[in-house]
Amino acid sequence: MLATSGQGGSDLMVSFLEAEVQNLLPDGTMPIETQQRLDRLFGGETVAKRIVSVKIWRPDATVIYTNMAKNIIGQHFVSTDVAKAASGQIVAEFKDMISAESAYEQSLGKALIEIYSPLYKTGTKSVIAVGEIYEDASDLDAQLRSSRRETWIVVCLTTLLMLAFLYLIVRRGSFTIAVQRAELRERIADAQHMASQNERLRLEANEANEELLGRIGSDIHDGPIQALTLTRLRIDEIAEIWSDKRGSMGSVSLYLDEARSALGDSIDELRHLSTGLVLPELDELSPRELVELARDRHEGATATRVELDFGELPQTLPSAMKICVYRIIQESLTNAFRHAGGVGQQVSATVRDNALDLRISDQGAQATVQPGGLTSHTKLGHRGIRNRVQAFGGTLRIVRTEKGTEVCVLLPLDQGGA
Ligand SMILES: Nc1ncnc2c1ncn2[C@@H]1O[C@H](COP(=O)(O)OP(=O)(O)OP(=O)(O)O)[C@@H](O)[C@H]1O
Ligand SMILES: [Mg+2]
Repeated sequence: MLATSGQGGSDLMVSFLEAEVQNLLPDGTMPIETQQRLDRLFGGETVAKRIVSVKIWRPDATVIYTNMAKNIIGQHFVSTDVAKAASGQIVAEFKDMISAESAYEQSLGKALIEIYSPLYKTGTKSVIAVGEIYEDASDLDAQLRSSRRETWIVVCLTTLLMLAFLYLIVRRGSFTIAVQRAELRERIADAQHMASQNERLRLEANEANEELLGRIGSDIHDGPIQALTLTRLRIDEIAEIWSDKRGSMGSVSLYLDEARSALGDSIDELRHLSTGLVLPELDELSPRELVELARDRHEGATATRVELDFGELPQTLPSAMKICVYRIIQESLTNAFRHAGGVGQQVSATVRDNALDLRISDQGAQATVQPGGLTSHTKLGHRGIRNRVQAFGGTLRIVRTEKGTEVCVLLPLDQGGA
């Protein structure tokens, strides 16, 4: 844009000034008439409006004409712009006038374009003077300002848009990260929950296994093993009678009957165990009948007497509790027979404080030598009783006195079949 303005100014000078500098005086100055003509020319309103000031220089940078600050005519200035124009170049500058020669123009406080143009001797390429013209550049300045403002607005808007866009991207990104983090946290919590659930289930399964194994062990111990133990006792006794020829054949046949009965019981028990590990025949029995059945079987297998003492009893019991009661009586009576000679055996059952109070006692001396020298290596009986009682949230007390032993069991009835 500046180059175009410069070119326009130069053309103007070529047209108006070049003709006037053809007749410079021999000392290089400009004749007065020429100066006056130029003054008139640049004093005209149309030109003056656009052309703020005009100077003509000798190529050695001496001012030979100016239409405004006449006092600098004849003065020499050091000017690279004049030197360049003297060498044939057109020089255009905008707003950076700092030289002393342009003091007047600077004082106007206007935006100006300063153009230096070589003035040639007609028909030659020899520069005889340099024309300098100051054009009013307010329009250009305003245009520059407005384009600069527009540029800034565009830059600001673009920057704002980009920042907003970036902000949205970052917001969305951080939102996505937050959502993913929350999902991850949820999944970790789920996994932890599942892991702890698995661990709990594993422990429960272990416990259930242990309990089942314990129950099977107890059932085998309390059922067939007891019956087989009694059978063996009887067979041992028969063998002794046989070898010593002591006792009568009557007692041999009695012992054989008992052994047969105990064997039959153990076979039945094993059958029941193998079919479902329960004692189905107990299901139909009332608590009283249950105790009586245990008593009858013990008496049948041992040929001893068991006293019964009943208080108030419920009509029925949960079947799991029936098995528990039956096994406790069975084991305790077997102990009474094996370790206390079956002396003064008694079973009492009653309900007290919403609990079944069961007692199995004997009056045999403590640490009685086992009949037939049969010794036990297992000693699982009391442990089995304790486990069964615990399973129902009950309590167990085994009281040993000089008179004998009493097994006291309390089974809470509101626990149901727990
Ligand atoms: N009624 C009792 N009179 C005297 N001692 C007893 C009586 N009951 C148990 N005992 C003693 O307590 C011990 C533990 O009894 P427990 O029933 O646990 O084992 P066991 O009868 O020896 O063997 P298992 O019952 O496993 O066949 C017995 O060995 C015995 O010494
Ligand atoms: Mg025992």
